[in-house]
Amino acid sequence: MPQVLVTREMVDEAMQALTGHCEVDLYTGPPEAMPRAEFLKRAQDKDGLLTMLSERVDAELLDAAGPRLKIVANHAVGYDNIDVEECTRRGVLVANTPDVLTESTADLAWALILASVRRIAEADRFLRTGKPWVWGPRMMLGHDLYGRTLGIVGYGRIGKATARRAEGFGMRVIHNSRSGGVSFDSLVAESDVISIHAPLTPETRHLFDADTFRRMKPTAVLVNTARGPLVDEAALAKALRAGEIFAAGLDVFEREPQVEAALLDLDNVTLAPHLGSATVQTRAAMGLFAVRNLLDGIAGHRPRALVNP
Ligand code: DGY
Repeated sequence: MPQVLVTREMVDEAMQALTGHCEVDLYTGPPEAMPRAEFLKRAQDKDGLLTMLSERVDAELLDAAGPRLKIVANHAVGYDNIDVEECTRRGVLVANTPDVLTESTADLAWALILASVRRIAEADRFLRTGKPWVWGPRMMLGHDLYGRTLGIVGYGRIGKATARRAEGFGMRVIHNSRSGGVSFDSLVAESDVISIHAPLTPETRHLFDADTFRRMKPTAVLVNTARGPLVDEAALAKALRAGEIFAAGLDVFEREPQVEAALLDLDNVTLAPHLGSATVQTRAAMGLFAVRNLLDGIAGHRPRALVNP
């Protein structure tokens, strides 16, 4: 029987899909990511690894795993946690789970857009204090979406799905990506809401920094459901505090799972613990997709979502 390591328990359907096909070494430790030393140890002599975005797969890990390793199946569409070039050099397949999480992630981007422009998390926190209040014309004012401009940074599957939803809100949409759209500078200057959907690469790291925030409208909102390091979190906290931008909604963090302390004190940021794909339906589809990729790779077949060039 092939030996596989699964680095976090998946939903039941996905766990059951492994039964009878391989011997599973499942990490069931505390909710934090599997400690690196344990990952290195338990990867040894495995035929396949089913990893989460929190596990770094690099030369050191591949050395520790050894020559039996055939595939790394990531339980995510993003794979910036994996050194794909190194895997390819060693003949190790890398697979991801595209498409199945597109709509749920776009929904979450909109949940954060709406929460940010209409101050929903702040309003909820306020009511829970029990402080006296009465309806008033100046109370907790947000901004309209209708007639305003949504800027999408990264126009792949999730960016496009997020853009599609804007029609219902009567928004104008502009986008910027490697393959076209408006320039990044125009997008930053013109958008009332910016939603990030670009992959994390050396070029996109800190795409949103102090200088970018200075060029955004003071009424603008920034939402990130892609990868944390696209945003310089310390600079974002300063911009939010100084009123350089109106609000932000973050589902991902620069040093995930840590959240920049300066953000925690701010009322104009809505925070979520990387929930983009966290629906019952999507997590079942992602888990089954990752398992299928894993089993295909172990059996010497080309996985459906191969990442290696
Ligand atoms: C991904 O798949 O890359 C998301 O960030 C987690 O669902």
